[in-house]
Amino acid sequence: MTAVSSGYSFRQIALHWLVFVLVAYQWFTGDRMTDLFRAAHGGPPAAVNPGWATIHVVVGAAVLLLMVWRLGIRRSRGAPPQPEQHPALQWLASAVHVGLYLDLIGGALAGLVAWFWLPGVAGLHHLMMRPVLLVLVALHLVGALWHRFVVKDDIMTRMIRPAR
Ligand code: HEM
Ligand code: HEM
Repeated sequence: MTAVSSGYSFRQIALHWLVFVLVAYQWFTGDRMTDLFRAAHGGPPAAVNPGWATIHVVVGAAVLLLMVWRLGIRRSRGAPPQPEQHPALQWLASAVHVGLYLDLIGGALAGLVAWFWLPGVAGLHHLMMRPVLLVLVALHLVGALWHRFVVKDDIMTRMIRPAR
């Protein structure tokens, strides 16, 4: 159960957007990691610099740590209450938030297991993170735009301007 706060703190907001930037980076450069990973496991030689793999591991591990840190802050400081809206939409918004935490934490852990110990099943699990993330971020983005331009409430503002 999360404590209820008056709004997101500067730290929560900074972490939200930092994770967004790092995940976008992983998203657009992940295919280089796939080429290098397959080459390391008997596939055709990769036409990309092996340094990209190190960057993928470091950025991915950073996403993992930052998401766990966010969960810690959510537990101790809390999050603002859900806006007044249909209970089904409240449920959907919460489910998408939980899904984002699970997908990124679980996906990054699977990536680590695949890279360091068990390439097969864990690699597959890591690959599944991508389509799931696409659906979750799409729903999340549609929700944010819906609140900003249709409902016209302060949901977007509270992930931009820190509460006191
Ligand atoms: C949450 C952070 C991460 C994101 C968003 C992410 C994203 C991606 C993406 C988009 C790909 C390209 C493959 C695809 O899905 O089409 C990929 C491949 C890969 N990533 Fe990550 N990654 C993350 C963290 C990590 C970490 C921490 C590791 C640990 C070493 C890792 C290891 C790998 C491996 C081994 C592949 C190749 C998988 C295969 O081809 O079977 N990733 N990642
Ligand atoms: C990788 C991409 C993203 C992830 C993983 C993510 C994750 C999350 C999570 C987990 C929350 C719940 C609050 C928390 O516990 O931290 C949240 C809230 C929020 N996000 Fe995102 N987000 C992403 C991208 C975006 C984008 C692109 C937008 C809008 C353009 C956005 C707007 C918001 C807003 C407005 C809230 C506050 C919702 C509320 O107060 O009920 N997010 N995000």
